[in-house]
Amino acid sequence: MAFQRLDLASRVVTFFTGVISTERGRGVATALKAEHARRLRDEGWRELSTWNMEENLPILAANARLGFQPILRVQSLLLDFDEP
Ligand SMILES: CC(C)(COP(=O)(O)OP(=O)(O)OC[C@H]1O[C@@H](n2cnc3c(N)ncnc32)[C@H](O)[C@@H]1OP(=O)(O)O)[C@@H](O)C(=O)NCCC(=O)NCCS
Repeated sequence: MAFQRLDLASRVVTFFTGVISTERGRGVATALKAEHARRLRDEGWRELSTWNMEENLPILAANARLGFQPILRVQSLLLDFDEP
């Protein structure tokens, strides 16, 4: 999946890669994302961005292998209304 960032005309945001559990660990996600990137580049896009949960080691590893570089860290915050 991918969407265009309206504030950065050159950039496409890719999100959600899924591989059926029986086929994981065989390089499918890395290959899929590589082909996705090639097609987007060939369509004229100059940059891809994405985001990952920090505990999701497989997708972090795939993105690192593909050459994605960290540009921003985001903190997830919670306000619990049941707390006094
Ligand atoms: C994340 C997901 C797409 C990876 O798919 P995959 O086809 O198994 O990934 P690959 O085989 O291409 O492996 C990618 C990297 O993860 C590593 N990896 C695989 N399983 C791992 C695990 N359990 N822990 C740590 N690293 C792992 C692989 O060694 C590889 O790294 P390398 O290139 O340095 O060797 C798949 O696990 C999935 O569908 N998960 C549920 C959905 C999800 O979380 N999607 C990502 C967020 S949108």
